[in-house]
Amino acid sequence: MVRSEIQKKIQDAVAALYPDTAVLPVEVSVPEQREHGNYSSNVALLLSHALKKNPMEIAQQLSEKLSDSTMFTKVEAVKPGFLNFFIADQKLFELLQSVIENPEMFGQSTIGKGKTVMVEYFQLNIAKRPHIGHIRSAIIGDALKRMFLSQGYHAISDTHVGDWGTQFGILLLGYKGAGADLHTKEITEDPFGELEEIYLAENAKIKEDPLRRERAKQEFVKLEQGDPENRKIWVWMVEISMQKLFEAANRLGLLPFDEHRGESFYEDKMQLIVESALQRGVAKKIDDGAVIVDLTNEGLDEAVLIKSDGASTYLLRDLATIQYRKKEWNFWKNLYVVDVRQSHHFKQLFRVAEMLGFDGAGESQHVEYGFMKLPEGGAISTRGGTGISLEKVLNEAEERAAAVIAQKNPALANAKEVSHMVGLGALKYFDLSHHRKSDITFEWDRVLSFEGNTGPYLQYTHARLKSILRKAISHHPESAAAEEGSLMSQHEILLRQLTDQNDTIVLDPIQRNLLATLIRFPEAIEDGLAVWSPHVLAGYLYELAVRGNEFYHTTPILTEADEEKKQFFLALVFAVSTVLKKGLYLLGIDAPEEM
Ligand code: ARG
Repeated sequence: MVRSEIQKKIQDAVAALYPDTAVLPVEVSVPEQREHGNYSSNVALLLSHALKKNPMEIAQQLSEKLSDSTMFTKVEAVKPGFLNFFIADQKLFELLQSVIENPEMFGQSTIGKGKTVMVEYFQLNIAKRPHIGHIRSAIIGDALKRMFLSQGYHAISDTHVGDWGTQFGILLLGYKGAGADLHTKEITEDPFGELEEIYLAENAKIKEDPLRRERAKQEFVKLEQGDPENRKIWVWMVEISMQKLFEAANRLGLLPFDEHRGESFYEDKMQLIVESALQRGVAKKIDDGAVIVDLTNEGLDEAVLIKSDGASTYLLRDLATIQYRKKEWNFWKNLYVVDVRQSHHFKQLFRVAEMLGFDGAGESQHVEYGFMKLPEGGAISTRGGTGISLEKVLNEAEERAAAVIAQKNPALANAKEVSHMVGLGALKYFDLSHHRKSDITFEWDRVLSFEGNTGPYLQYTHARLKSILRKAISHHPESAAAEEGSLMSQHEILLRQLTDQNDTIVLDPIQRNLLATLIRFPEAIEDGLAVWSPHVLAGYLYELAVRGNEFYHTTPILTEADEEKKQFFLALVFAVSTVLKKGLYLLGIDAPEEM
């Protein structure tokens, strides 16, 4: 990574010039304005206090020292004490060369080796149709998993399916009340749909008649106590709901999950926790029989472990989950991709886990995200069951993408497949281009636009670059041997062509900026993981695409007469398209070769 190379150089220079100062973490960032170089650092400002020296003087001394390196054409000290680094073209050429030689490795690292990250997302609930409210968790969680894997982490995903809890009382009451016997039959037409209706209908009844709520609670208590009839029905409900979950995950193109540990899995692990909490005096039994942990003086209210009717709580199951995950996976981090409305729950959870001395409590974190809104207003509820179904949203995305593609490229051969990639990619990218904590409003025209910071724009840029490569190679004398459009053949031809005589090539600012942006790919992944938000990577890819576009609009690549220069341009096109494809992959988005 270039950034860490610079950090190291600064550290060495500081150590050489001021041997008595403690090593401090050196921050190197990318300046907003191109005139300020490729990277800059505020290290002199940070040092001025400890050294009791004017920051500008330190910056000057450092810049002199660092200017020795062939890595830079210039290291300038600017007021009030910043250092600006201008990377030498020769260094950029070398980096490009290494990308071309080993494109698969670019953006990969082993920094996470030996570390297990548990990422929990796409937590569907039994008998509730996956809907648009679930989409952010799936998209963000899947991208994080991909990014972690690319850095050598052992990333484990779990869905923590909502298959336990009082809502099963509602389901069971409704199911029995309807005289349903679906679970005894072999196949029914749309069992999931029926189940969903039962749930909605019973919920409505309960609203009218509070007594029914008590009866529903009793049904869950019976289930929890092992009532055979309730168990049998429950097993069936879980089974047909899991089918839906798999279908949805598949349709979204998520990486396979490592675990689907439903909340019910923790059933037999909860009693011990309650006993120990009582014994340690962390929890207490209150008058109505409930077991609670009093967090009121920490501003976190009462955390309920056991309800007054004896039923376990969501919180208690989550406590058992931390214990199990730590034991099973010995995680380094345990991340929950869950919407912001549950932040109070997770604060309680982590605090109680800490009070109970759980191993892994401090490594557990809520990776919260904001609401997805529709333009008509109103957040999409995850509980009411009235949200737009995921299936409907995905269908609409694909249909709309198909319409755009039919208009832009009517002759496209595999239009159906491409529409699928573009529709789904647009949806995912729209989400991931925002900081996960922001609320986002879904507007189809913006989501699917081919202009601006959108998925289709990135996909389109990638396809344009690929088409340049295809053209270059089909004009090439060796093209008969090369299978048209295949990455390997393009790559092989390029490798043979790209000479290391690049030092004679003079780059214009646009070409230099593109190359300097290209080499920041690993840094964008690192920065995204540092805040557990893929938007950093998305923003980087957008910048790369903008500069890539700028490049091929201003540089006549295929008609370049100087053969050496042309090969360099093609190498750049190859590298940029490779990074776009790989970057999109890390966001869970496919990049079609043509569109
Ligand atoms: N199924 C839950 C819900 O719909 C979300 C689960 C979040 N994960 C957790 N470990 N609590 O509210």
